Amino acid sequence: MTTSPLVGILMGSKSDWETMQHTALTLKELDVPFEAHVASAHRTPQKVVEFCEGAEGRGIKVIIAAAGGAAHLAGVCASKTHLPVLGVPMKGWATAGLDALLSTVQMPTGIPVGTLAIGKAGAINAALLAASILSLSDANIRERYLAFRKAQTEKALKDDDLVMP
Ligand code: RP5
Repeated sequence: MTTSPLVGILMGSKSDWETMQHTALTLKELDVPFEAHVASAHRTPQKVVEFCEGAEGRGIKVIIAAAGGAAHLAGVCASKTHLPVLGVPMKGWATAGLDALLSTVQMPTGIPVGTLAIGKAGAINAALLAASILSLSDANIRERYLAFRKAQTEKALKDDDLVMP
C-alpha cells in the first residue's frame, strides 16, 4: 500500500487549521496519505513556490490550498505546478469569506483552480474531490471512495426514516 503523501494541503496560516482539520480527517477516513503545511502566498512565498515545484517529484498528485481574505494562495500554487489545485476559501475576519471565495474562484483564463465552498463544507469536499481524482488511477482509493458514498446515501435514507414515522 502507498504510504507516501498523495495529497498536499497548504494553509495560509495556522489559524486555518480549525477548518482544514476537516480535510485531514476526511482524507484519513478514506485512508488517503497526505501532508499538511502552513505556507502563505504573501508571508512565505518562497516556501509555497518550493513546495509546488517539488510536489510532483515527491509523488503528490493533488494540492489543496486554503487561504482567507484576499490571499491568493491557490492561484499562486496553480501558477507553479500543473498538478490539480483545489482551493478552499476560508471564512476569515470580514465578508464571511466572500473575499476569499472571489479571489480563489475568479482565476483569469489559462491557470485553473478548482474552487470549493467557503469553510468546513469546502474543506470536506476538497478531500472528497481529491479522492475522486485519485480514484481514476488507484483502485483501492476508488473502492474506499465508493464505499464512503454508499454509506452516506444509506445514512441519509435512514435519517429520513427517523423524521417520517
Ligand atoms: C490568510 O490570512 C490566511 O490564510 C488566514 O486565513 C488569514 C488570517 O491569517 P492570520 O492572521 O490568522 O495568521 O493569509
